[in-house]
Amino acid sequence: MSEIAEKVKGLNIPKHVAVIMDGNGRWAQEQGQPRTYGHAAGAEVVENMVEIVSDAGIEFFTVYAFSTENWKRSEEEVSVLFSLFAVYLQKLMKKSMENNVRCFIIGSREGLDKELIDVINELEEKTKENTGLTFNIAINYGGRDEIVRAVKKIAVDLIAGNITPEDISENLISENTDTAGMPDPDLMIRTGGEERISNFLPWQLAYTEFYFTDVNWPDFDEDELVKAIKKFNGRERRFGGVIK
Ligand code: IPE
Ligand code: IPE
Ligand code: MG
Repeated sequence: MSEIAEKVKGLNIPKHVAVIMDGNGRWAQEQGQPRTYGHAAGAEVVENMVEIVSDAGIEFFTVYAFSTENWKRSEEEVSVLFSLFAVYLQKLMKKSMENNVRCFIIGSREGLDKELIDVINELEEKTKENTGLTFNIAINYGGRDEIVRAVKKIAVDLIAGNITPEDISENLISENTDTAGMPDPDLMIRTGGEERISNFLPWQLAYTEFYFTDVNWPDFDEDELVKAIKKFNGRERRFGGVIK
């Protein structure tokens, strides 16, 4: 049994964990380094975390890597981030085939370089038959943008006469989001001390348990994940009902 599996033995493991990986910039600056140094360190943590969450028995893992609002940052920071994505996704392709991980990049493709889109398509295509962990990386993702894109898809179907207004249901909307076919997150972790969702999965997080930690993403590790899972185990999920 892996170390993490030992540590979470007997606990209720959330099926889907989503993470806002925040605090890279501050982590670097605290050490007198440029913000981008923190992003490189953060990318390594994601790489390790994929294996850890999978060993813990988590089935879906969704991480927020770049929001639709992050384009507001300096050209230099954005360009370093996208270079890191290109390198990371190539590595992920190989690792996912070794570890049976199915990958999706969620978010809008608009504004992404063609080369990156090619890598994304290849990654999704290559890993689509994998049956282990489902790993979603949110790049150029915004929750409101996702809802706009979902509404547009539904409108196209409506105008084509494939559906009527009565067919529009919560299910249909979910099926037109970027996480179609996946369960909603059970646990959402945000590192870096801020307590907000910053446009991350607003539709899907309706009944998710939130866990906020001051630990910056580059310092997040197996033991921090165990703490979050333990906290999750102490929560009473009522979904609007009453516990008898
Ligand atoms: C999260 O860390 C990574 C991205 C948003 C790309 P930040 O870069 O937001 O780090 P802080 O919050 O400024 O410390
Ligand atoms: C959220 O972090 C986005 C990612 C982690 C990718 P931000 O650092 O962009 O969020 P705000 O600006 O503090 O809300
Ligand atoms: Mg931040």
